[in-house]
Amino acid sequence: MPEIRLDKFISERTEHTRSQIKTIAAKGGIRVNGSIVKAADRKIDPESDTVTVNGQELSASRYRYILLNKPEGYVSSTGDHDGKNVMELIPPELRTKDMFPAGRLDKDSIGALLITDDGELAHRMLSPKKHIPKIYMVRLARSFGEEYAEKFAAGIELENGEVCRPAKVQRAESCDTVAFVELSEGKYHQVKRMFAAVGNHVEKLMRLSLGGLHIAPELNCGECIVLTDNDIKQLFNYDNFADFCRIYEKRFLSFLINE
Ligand code: URA
Repeated sequence: MPEIRLDKFISERTEHTRSQIKTIAAKGGIRVNGSIVKAADRKIDPESDTVTVNGQELSASRYRYILLNKPEGYVSSTGDHDGKNVMELIPPELRTKDMFPAGRLDKDSIGALLITDDGELAHRMLSPKKHIPKIYMVRLARSFGEEYAEKFAAGIELENGEVCRPAKVQRAESCDTVAFVELSEGKYHQVKRMFAAVGNHVEKLMRLSLGGLHIAPELNCGECIVLTDNDIKQLFNYDNFADFCRIYEKRFLSFLINE
């Protein structure tokens, strides 16, 4: 891999500015392959050199990908506004300057949210042409209607006249007020509005997957994990919807009912 400047390498992978990096280096806080380096403009090889900043080893990967299990009450944004935003849930040592949530979940929704500084990947994931399928599990106010699958497959017309792309929907086997939905687009409040259009109401919404990336049952609400480049490839390697629903019903049904 071509060599790059140490301060550039660090600034791309942390929240530190170049001048902060210079100061940290002067204080002996930066090591390359175990040795203190005080000259922040030194060249390094990102593939073969190990860089630590204040004892924290930095990843060789240019971009960071984090899967957050978003809890209720947080807004999917980076911005300053009233209330809490999802970036607060990312531990400071995992944050980088350019990170943002790739996609949105409503403030009262929970589940899978990808946070990254890879703008190109976010664009590939979210662009209308390539929109990856996302699976949601919902708790409904009323029983699941037999006609829903056909209506969702035909393209639900929302209250404002907008027509959704064909979507898959399926009732949970063991509970008639829990359902799974697979969408390949991301209109505002889409799942809630689709169920409203068929006369039901979403009480609770959890996103279980983004493409082939899933929320693992051991990842509690509010927790996040750093994904590898291989995990990211899973985004474009989708699951079979019916198989997925069967597995995830066992994992998350009691959680969703009791939330
Ligand atoms: N659809 C919704 O209605 N809300 C979400 O948070 C995501 C999809």
